[in-house]
Amino acid sequence: MDIKTQAFGRLPDGTAVEVYSLTNEKGLEARIMTYGATLVSLEVPDRMGKAGDIVLGYESLDGYIKNSPYFGSIVGRYGNRIAKGKFILDGVTYTLAANNGENHLHGGIKGFDKVVWNAEPVREEGVAAIKFSYLSRDGEEGYPGNLAVVVIYSLSNDNELKISYEARTDKATPVNLTHHSYFNLAGEGDVLGQELMIASDAYTPVDSGLIPTGEIRPVMGTPFDFTSPHAIGERIAKVEGGYDHNFVLRSGGELGLAARVVDPKSGRTMEITTTEPGLQFYSGNFLDGTITGKGGRVYSKHAGFCLETQHFPDSPNKPGFPSTILRPGRVYKSLTVHKFSTR
Ligand code: GLA
Repeated sequence: MDIKTQAFGRLPDGTAVEVYSLTNEKGLEARIMTYGATLVSLEVPDRMGKAGDIVLGYESLDGYIKNSPYFGSIVGRYGNRIAKGKFILDGVTYTLAANNGENHLHGGIKGFDKVVWNAEPVREEGVAAIKFSYLSRDGEEGYPGNLAVVVIYSLSNDNELKISYEARTDKATPVNLTHHSYFNLAGEGDVLGQELMIASDAYTPVDSGLIPTGEIRPVMGTPFDFTSPHAIGERIAKVEGGYDHNFVLRSGGELGLAARVVDPKSGRTMEITTTEPGLQFYSGNFLDGTITGKGGRVYSKHAGFCLETQHFPDSPNKPGFPSTILRPGRVYKSLTVHKFSTR
């Protein structure tokens, strides 16, 4: 196990950004930078033992600052959408930035993906980890309360990349943190042939602005049924705009299996377990070839997929969904594990 740090660049205001590299004894390497606590690269061996980078992103900081659709970043204070950027909490109406049509998306104009986090390497027996922390001030992006957030990325010799989250507040606030890597287990081309299983019997249908209607609808007999593995592209034409939906996980908020993805060509397999009750499956629909990323690769539609463990979108306005409200004196805790293997 090893941890190394290096300069990754500077923000326009001169703030230095570092990148940490975590390596294990099985040939996995995760590089995470302090800007957005962003996973910049993830090298994973294929069935022949050949390493490949399986996440989308840029080679340098510049790209992330100029134009990044949340490549690899930590998303907060609220992952996914809040309708019209408004919610009522304890009788008070709060207004957040409308940065996605009339809705609020991924924490607003300057979410947790666009701030520089403090970082501290953690060396423990059998794991290499980095502890990121950030204090989101009362009123930031319209949210109430000073929110102290800690996110730990850790890599083990079992080929597990764990992301654990903790947050504390001094005023009641919605919190819904997630990680936004675009995976492509082949490390090239599109992801339509990669086979996905989601441990979910129901999803939350959305309106034209991608806000859940509030309904929990069974996946059975629909293109959303991933209870047994299906190639991502198999039924995608039947889903208007492609997949960008929240799945209700069977594990129901207890640490359990969320999804498994297999790339038949390289043999790379990723299994995700989480304590979150939901999973946003996004099939990279908005990638349109205008971004050239690492290694000169052009990111066309479906060049990567995201599996964002989360609470359901627009929960602050949906009393029927599991609550995302964190109160003073309580601790927000969340854990997601990505386990890699080959077959
Ligand atoms: C999430 C959203 C998508 C999209 C991507 C980033 O997955 O649900 O609609 O915004 O993030 O582009």
